[in-house]
Amino acid sequence: MREKIAVLMGGRSLEREVSLKSGRRVSDALKEKGYKVIQLDIDENLVDNLLREHVDLVYIALHGKYGEDGTVQELLEILGVPYTGPGVYSSIVGFDKVLSKEIYQIERIPTPKFYALSSGSFKEMGASGVLGEVIKKIGLPIVVKPACQGSALGIKFVKTPEELPSALIGALSYDDKVLLEEYIKGKEVAVSIIGNANPKPLPVVEIVPKKEFFDFESMYTMGMTDYFVPARISKELTEKVQNTAVKVHRILRCRDVSRVDMIIGEDEVPYVLELNTSPGMTETSLLPMAAKAAGMEFPDLVDKLVRLALER
Ligand SMILES: Nc1ncnc2c1ncn2[C@@H]1O[C@H](COP(=O)(O)OP(=O)(O)O)[C@@H](O)[C@H]1O
Ligand SMILES: [Mg+2]
Repeated sequence: MREKIAVLMGGRSLEREVSLKSGRRVSDALKEKGYKVIQLDIDENLVDNLLREHVDLVYIALHGKYGEDGTVQELLEILGVPYTGPGVYSSIVGFDKVLSKEIYQIERIPTPKFYALSSGSFKEMGASGVLGEVIKKIGLPIVVKPACQGSALGIKFVKTPEELPSALIGALSYDDKVLLEEYIKGKEVAVSIIGNANPKPLPVVEIVPKKEFFDFESMYTMGMTDYFVPARISKELTEKVQNTAVKVHRILRCRDVSRVDMIIGEDEVPYVLELNTSPGMTETSLLPMAAKAAGMEFPDLVDKLVRLALER
């Protein structure tokens, strides 16, 4: 029998159901590869369960808060249990879209123009005050998002001034920090990266949702989005997109795996939207799709991520 692995899945975030899907698929793949697998949820018994089971590795199949934001990574560091995927720093920074965009700006990585707002300043400025700032800094249309959230939850496109207040209130119900971002018209792509010392990009996935944008339904419902792997872009642009993604992965000091979401503008610049430290592993997810295009079936992908974590 090979190593004993605990798959952490479920959790307390709004992406619980997505994580359960990822976790079940990962568990099946690990069993197929001959590992001993237990499944654990995030509850008050987590520490006792982990210590009692003497696992060799934790596979983090969690998404969102308490899974992808550095909290569970910190706990595992304290317990001394090795785990898959990026560490505490990358998880904290990657999960906070405002913080990571500030770093992209410093590092001169193209990212849509933005304005960050806390619930406190929204109360002080009011919607009209915010609108003034947004028009000055970005213009319309804009995309309003909670700073720390995933799966497009709480994201609204604002095309007219009248739409701003409800979009802000909506996003602020997910998080007390909100990102107002320049809308980029172009081709949406995602690049997954695998490796440690020498991280390598997988083929570029092009995303063409049937709805207005890649929202929750488009992400997780078969047939709601068309995917093209490799993306229908030139060799030069493919390289540019992949190099940008690897740079982001390195700057946020990621290890094992990450996925960078981008939109290629009409100026052929890949604008970075965000980096994911625990990319989805469901039937419709982008990382498994990219791996498959590179000749890696799902169980091989999971095995690769486990080997990378165990080698550390
Ligand atoms: N600045 C933007 N311009 C155009 N579309 C955007 C922009 N930001 C986000 N989107 C759309 O919203 C989706 C989710 O945004 P993203 O920043 O990746 O957050 P999440 O963490 O929820 O995936 C993207 O996949 C894209 O379709
Ligand atoms: Mg995204």
